[in-house]
Amino acid sequence: MSILSGKNILLGITGGIAAYKTASLVRLFVKTGAKVKVIMTPAAKDFITPLTLSTLSKHPVHSSFTNEEDDNAVWNNHVDLGLWADIFIVAPATANTLSKMANGVCDNLLLATYLSAKCPVYFAPAMDLDMYKHPSTIESFKKLDAFKNIMIPAATGELASGLVGEGRMAEPEDIVEFIEQDILGTLPLNGKKILITAGPTYEAIDPVRFIGNHSSGKMGFEIAKAAANLGAEVVLITGPTHQNVTHSNIKIVPVISAQDMYNEVHKYFDTTNIAILSAAVADFTPKEVASQKIKKKSETLTLELEKTKDILASLGVIKKNQFLVGFALETNNELENAKGKLKRKNLNLIVLNSLNDKGAGFKTDTNKVTFIDDKENILEFQLKSKSEVASDLLNKIISEIDA
Ligand code: CTP
Repeated sequence: MSILSGKNILLGITGGIAAYKTASLVRLFVKTGAKVKVIMTPAAKDFITPLTLSTLSKHPVHSSFTNEEDDNAVWNNHVDLGLWADIFIVAPATANTLSKMANGVCDNLLLATYLSAKCPVYFAPAMDLDMYKHPSTIESFKKLDAFKNIMIPAATGELASGLVGEGRMAEPEDIVEFIEQDILGTLPLNGKKILITAGPTYEAIDPVRFIGNHSSGKMGFEIAKAAANLGAEVVLITGPTHQNVTHSNIKIVPVISAQDMYNEVHKYFDTTNIAILSAAVADFTPKEVASQKIKKKSETLTLELEKTKDILASLGVIKKNQFLVGFALETNNELENAKGKLKRKNLNLIVLNSLNDKGAGFKTDTNKVTFIDDKENILEFQLKSKSEVASDLLNKIISEIDA
């Protein structure tokens, strides 16, 4: 999943030959899962039709303050468009429009929207090489930089004039990549590697049976999604679940048993910055796994179980600078038990959920948690959706690692 998924992208197209490439740009943005609306300057319509862009973006395209074709002329509200946008990108951005943006000129819908927009603004210049280097254009770039607008530099290559040089609009793929990387770079977990465990483990009894538990894996998957959306590179080591996630920042490592999970966690821990162990790992596993299906010959069956390795505790022993988070599911004496686990397993933070709280624990979409950190600060939360709990947890971790 792209970081642009679910974002509202407003694309402003101005009158340059590179406008023909915006059809691909709109398609690429839509493919990321973003919602796209297009506004054009009147001159842009000479280079690409509004019909092409409205078809690709699945939204009407606006280029003037009123709907010209409509007898009951409707005002196209530039303020609404500006507020709707999470990202505004002007591509191609001609020297003329850039100069107007730099100087507060407001003689078309695109410029009025630019002045109304509160979101980050990107612009991808496109012009001939001499125009690109002209002091007046450089002056526009400087002013726009001072306004904190972000330039997607033009590429060097063959220009519409036949000349070769700097001024070609960046290719649509490069524009999308530039914006994705730019957003990732501003995120609080950018550059951090996070290891997350999720779901139950299955401990084999024989080739067809296992000992498992009711963990759905939802909490761990929500933490993985939230961490990836905050820019982290996530390794999600998960026992068998029905959960699914596709995100370019999440690597899923499926495992079955507690021993598999232990092995995989130890492969990644050394290069990890933050480890969050939310899996419901089996505490015991059959001592012997029958090689054939066990037949029901006798009235009773006794299985001998042995302890699994405690993955979390093993990380507490070897951790260097890693921020280590564990979960505790308790039924009684909750705070004391959780504090005990925090100390015993050498954690930085423990997330306590009590089975006594309605809506908390396995299989629900909600959770009610208390965070206890290694300075014994206690932070208690109301019942929330697991995705909200995930973002509370990551905010707490961010505040701790930044402190
Ligand atoms: N955990 C683990 N490996 C295990 C068992 C548990 O990594 N073999 C982790 C869980 O992922 C969780 C934390 O340890 O983050 C707490 O697990 P829990 O079963 O509640 O605690 P235990 O330490 O096993 O203690 P008890 O069963 O006595 O409550």
